[in-house]
Amino acid sequence: MNIPIKIAGIGFNVPKTVITNDDLSKILDTSDEWIKTRTGIEKRHVLSGNETAVQMGIEAGKKALLKSGINPKEIDYIIAAASFGTHIYPSTACEIQAAIGADNAACFDITAACSGLIYGLGIARAFIKSGTAKNILIVATDAVSRCVDWTDRTTSVLFGDGAGAVMLTVSDDDQDDILAVELKADGKYGNFIQMATPGKNCPIVEQNEEKNTFVKMNGKEVYKYVVTKLPTYIEECVEKSGLKLSEIDYLVPHQANLRIIEALEQRLDFDADHVISNIQEYANTSAASIPIAITEAIQSGKIKTPCSAILTGFGAGMTVGTAVVRLREGIA
Ligand SMILES: CC(C)(COP(=O)(O)OP(=O)(O)OC[C@H]1O[C@@H](n2cnc3c(N)ncnc32)[C@H](O)[C@@H]1OP(=O)(O)O)[C@@H](O)C(=O)NCCC(=O)NCCS
Repeated sequence: MNIPIKIAGIGFNVPKTVITNDDLSKILDTSDEWIKTRTGIEKRHVLSGNETAVQMGIEAGKKALLKSGINPKEIDYIIAAASFGTHIYPSTACEIQAAIGADNAACFDITAACSGLIYGLGIARAFIKSGTAKNILIVATDAVSRCVDWTDRTTSVLFGDGAGAVMLTVSDDDQDDILAVELKADGKYGNFIQMATPGKNCPIVEQNEEKNTFVKMNGKEVYKYVVTKLPTYIEECVEKSGLKLSEIDYLVPHQANLRIIEALEQRLDFDADHVISNIQEYANTSAASIPIAITEAIQSGKIKTPCSAILTGFGAGMTVGTAVVRLREGIA
């Protein structure tokens, strides 16, 4: 039996503090012109004081839940896509569970970096389709500003903090909102984007230096990888969805670089006003970038629901994830 899935609610949350490119040029050898021309980014929201990735995730999750009308006690799973949450354990998903009162949910985190939301969709879809779960909350949240080296101009200027959430349930009509999900990984390119875990050997064994645990990225290789591989991966997913590329209304790519987004737009032959981009305001918010982009675009009227959309993300691993979805009225 094919169990149809409904995307019942989505939401996002970003911190209030905003840093512009000009602000960064006061602490780094960079400029608004360089950052805007190479990436499209104008500003980013960052955590301050005691604010955490978990708090952002809680707020985003609550919004998605509210839109869905689902009682938190009815959530079967919370999946958090959080590469840099508040703790390694308890998981970000467990911390969100406690805050929203989802007492009956099983909770776990996944590490698929910026592809995390789409990996979460793929996992949740399999749980629902197999009858294992009915209601699943996926929350993508990352405090990237706390894991970049703010003296490294090649990486730090690209990122911002944020959270996005998607509430899935079994459809009450026959419409399936997740038509296809295609997940890929290329572990052999793991060195393109890396972040080490902290920790060192027991001092009885040896005295180690503290490790560098900041994000290290080879931007050029990431760029080449994405523009070479992603279009084909997207086309494979579209083929599985049963729709033709020309029948799909919107393209919502991971917000990593405006030049990558424009390259996808051209290669997939989308009209510019059907390609969603808000990197100017938020920079790269890792796994949260896709749900932030969808929610904001629906709320501003840029995405007109009901519609179909391609969601596509890529990130450290390298990981890539694409989903072809339907977005109903009233979900944001
Ligand atoms: C990072 C990225 C913007 C760099 O753009 P680029 O055109 O490849 O730039 P380069 O790395 O060749 O650097 C060009 C020059 O600018 C300099 N530069 C790098 N960062 C700079 C900054 N923030 N401000 C000013 N100059 C900078 C470099 O040092 C280099 O100087 P040099 O020519 O004197 O050596 C681009 O490669 C990119 O976006 N890659 C994809 C990254 C990505 O998407 N990551 C997230 C994956 S989830």
